[in-house]
Amino acid sequence: MATVEFDDVTKTYLGATQNAVDHVSFSVEKGALCILLGTSGSGKTTLLRMVNRLADPTSGVIRVDGTATTEQDPIALRRRIGYVIQQVGLFPHLTVEENVRVVPSILGQKASETSGRVDELLTLVGLEPAEYRTRYPRQLSGGQQQRVGLARALAADPALLLMDEPFGALDAITRGRLQDELLRIQRETGKTILFVTHDVDEAFKLGTQVVVMDQGRLMQEGAPVELLAHPANAFVGQLVGSANALRQLEFLPASAALEPQAPADAAGSQRISAHATLLEALLQLMQSKQSALTLEEHGRGVGQITLSGISRVVLAARRMAAEQAAEAEERVAATPEAV
Ligand SMILES: Nc1ncnc2c1ncn2[C@@H]1O[C@H](COP(=O)(O)OP(=O)(O)OP(=O)(O)O)[C@@H](O)[C@H]1O
Ligand SMILES: [Mg+2]
Repeated sequence: MATVEFDDVTKTYLGATQNAVDHVSFSVEKGALCILLGTSGSGKTTLLRMVNRLADPTSGVIRVDGTATTEQDPIALRRRIGYVIQQVGLFPHLTVEENVRVVPSILGQKASETSGRVDELLTLVGLEPAEYRTRYPRQLSGGQQQRVGLARALAADPALLLMDEPFGALDAITRGRLQDELLRIQRETGKTILFVTHDVDEAFKLGTQVVVMDQGRLMQEGAPVELLAHPANAFVGQLVGSANALRQLEFLPASAALEPQAPADAAGSQRISAHATLLEALLQLMQSKQSALTLEEHGRGVGQITLSGISRVVLAARRMAAEQAAEAEERVAATPEAV
């Protein structure tokens, strides 16, 4: 369970002159961590809210597990889908345990049946059950409340999780920890996650799939590496920072810097995994004081990585970004002024 399909989805709010979501189509596979990335007002929250029917499309169809959302009962749908928002929304008069149990108890499960499960969930999100179970939300830090919100969303064991800027209000260190926590939970449970953010680093760290939105329209969709290496247009290039050398190094695979003429293997050279990033290759090269590393795939050498190969990749990306910026400027210059 838990595939989501957006099929030519448009949402026009009453009285609005522009579509909040404008003919958007993409699919989210089971087990994907799909990031909706875009500037403020680009339609990310609207897309998310249409999945659990807090809003319905004006036209087009959203299918959850192959069935149109509009053919599913909203309440039943929401119980099957976990939803986490930035403002957490814990009930202030309920303890941590009672908050986590909200959905299971609506579903008719007794406290005695779910008590073990609450402990399990609190542990999963990194809160010691004995210490936190009986606390009230006001006795928790913002990051801890966010963890309880995540535990609550996971309580009914939904195969699909919607998360709307859940870590936006947290400091960088806490946010990093919760991101690690989320990646671990996703690895362990294989849930499908739709995650909204406008933070590119967060998108690249978490996403297996990134959907870039601008003014209601889908600009590009793909793996983080694809967006970075081949941005579809100047907007995407600028947003993901194609010209940002450090980001290139962090997220592009070492194989991007293979020397075209070099032999597949070289006796005596250090080896590096084909899964390594350019940054890892760069660090290993500097430490090894060798002029080249052998890239290794399935135990076999497949080529040589050199310092000049790495700088070639970074320079090429920069050049491409500069060309795109120039192209965008030309387009603006060529557009006749609106009358
Ligand atoms: N209930 C509503 N009624 C009317 N217009 C709305 C409503 N909700 C959102 N909009 C408009 O739809 C557009 C998309 O809003 P949305 O909240 O989906 O953007 P977003 O990408 O989530 O932005 P942010 O990053 O600021 O949260 C905006 O122009 C917004 O003003
Ligand atoms: Mg939003």
